[in-house]
Amino acid sequence: MLQEYRNEPFTDFSQPANREAMTRALALVESQLGQSYPLVIGKEKIMTEEKLVSINPGNKDQVVGYVAKANLELAEKAIKTAEETFSTWSQVDPAVRARYLFKAAAEMRRRKHEFSAWLVYEVGKNWAEADADTAEAIDFMEFYGREMLRLAEPQPLTRIPGEDNELYYIPLGVGVIIPPWNFPLAILVGMTTAAIVSGNTVVLKPASASPVIAAKFVELMESVGLPPGVINFLPGSGGAIGDFLVDHPRTRFISFTGSMEVGLRIYERAAKLAPGQIWLKRVVAEMGGKDAIIVDKEADLEAAVEGIVASAFGFQGQKCSACSRAIIHQDVYDYVLEKVVEKAKQIKVGPPQDPGNFMGPVVDQKAYEKILEYMEIGKQEGRLMCGGGKAEGNGFYLQPTVFADVDPLARIAQEEIFGPVVAFIKARDFDHALEIANNTIYGLTGAVYSTNREHLEKARRHFHVGNLYFNRKCTGALVGVHPFGGFNMSGTDSKAGGRDYLLLFTQAKVVSEKL
Ligand code: NAD
Ligand code: ALA
Repeated sequence: MLQEYRNEPFTDFSQPANREAMTRALALVESQLGQSYPLVIGKEKIMTEEKLVSINPGNKDQVVGYVAKANLELAEKAIKTAEETFSTWSQVDPAVRARYLFKAAAEMRRRKHEFSAWLVYEVGKNWAEADADTAEAIDFMEFYGREMLRLAEPQPLTRIPGEDNELYYIPLGVGVIIPPWNFPLAILVGMTTAAIVSGNTVVLKPASASPVIAAKFVELMESVGLPPGVINFLPGSGGAIGDFLVDHPRTRFISFTGSMEVGLRIYERAAKLAPGQIWLKRVVAEMGGKDAIIVDKEADLEAAVEGIVASAFGFQGQKCSACSRAIIHQDVYDYVLEKVVEKAKQIKVGPPQDPGNFMGPVVDQKAYEKILEYMEIGKQEGRLMCGGGKAEGNGFYLQPTVFADVDPLARIAQEEIFGPVVAFIKARDFDHALEIANNTIYGLTGAVYSTNREHLEKARRHFHVGNLYFNRKCTGALVGVHPFGGFNMSGTDSKAGGRDYLLLFTQAKVVSEKL
């Protein structure tokens, strides 16, 4: 019998046995760097001449892997194969579909450190961040498998005499799955397995910065016997094949997580009817954030400082949930600022294979340049307290950066930087802090540090974000515990890891039989 759902525990790397296991996994993965990975359409593994080259952002001379790169012809073939497979996969018993996820979760759990080690090499996560990413991927499979079992149960309806009525959640069709690189395992696995366990088939287009970890997941699903054609793996440039997949008349839904710019493009294109298309495409689009932590004058200030540092600089600030605005009550502003700066200056930046480094590199040259540009903008818009430039190393290393006295409407207080940069903003009082926090186009996460019950209740009602935390950091949502998704330009609030999520990949059918 299936156990009740529980979150996968994080690894305690202070234990020597765990440190040794992770060190062994890093060595194993290092020995496998530079290999080539095919794209996968149905039963076929296709090696293209042109390839995506995945570089270790922490050591630019190291190639993590070469991954086949799709063109439009292959994209067409992938959609066609997914559609053919849908006719059989959609008829598979939901319990059987769920078992593929449980089996894959068990296998990923056995090889947990190996998956985490790929994350260290491919996107520069430190040990704890990589471990949390892998744990979340396992959680998604365990959670969505159970959710499918729940949805397959008889659904409650009002009964009337003389009729037998049933409501079934049936799958939609072919889905295009477009994940980001920043949780290259967890988010990709969550988006993909939610869609397939619901009975859909998919074309999975991974982010170009993290195609190797995606290939590893596709290999895992093959190893647990998932029928060919359920997941068609189509790495390639988002710009070149993304539009094609989104526009395709046989695409039934698009599940996207990434930037607001690309999300809006997909939303708009998906709304246009292509010749031969007979449905409205469903779009799930989870996008960016400009998340704030508010610190009230009555608050545990040490906890607030810890929370700001962890949320602003964890994984180099490259989380949609990252704290990029610290909105501090004027009475405690100087103290909190000084302590955060003190801690930021102590952060070790360097190769993420070394567990002593809290911050690794940012993901690629483009991100590196964009963040450096924002650091320069910040120098015009605020008072640079620490950081503000490159850090040493043969990779995309940046200093943890704090700007003080930033205007709430400054660019660094409004635009998503997606790097280790936090803007301090002074608030007159708690209401002013809330007003500043809500004054962006986004609405993803937020946190409030306060011991004032009235203020917390006010924030509960008026702080307009999808995930609001009190007296804790604003990153680190857990599957099943904190269903995750944002308001406004942060997306469609699809609440990944929540009990509504699979409904997005199904449609309800009612069958009514007269007795
Ligand atoms: P991105 O928008 O650049 O890319 C996301 C995906 O879209 C990639 O796979 C990319 O190849 C693809 N893509 C690019 N152009 C496309 C097109 N024209 N058509 C279809 N697909 C296309 O985002 P990113 O840099 O990978 O990720 C970072 C962003 O993701 C940040 O804005 C972050 O806030 C957001 N994010 C949001 C959440 C959330 O749950 N809200 C979670 C993680 C990341
Ligand atoms: N779900 C991730 C977090 O909460 C983005 O940090």
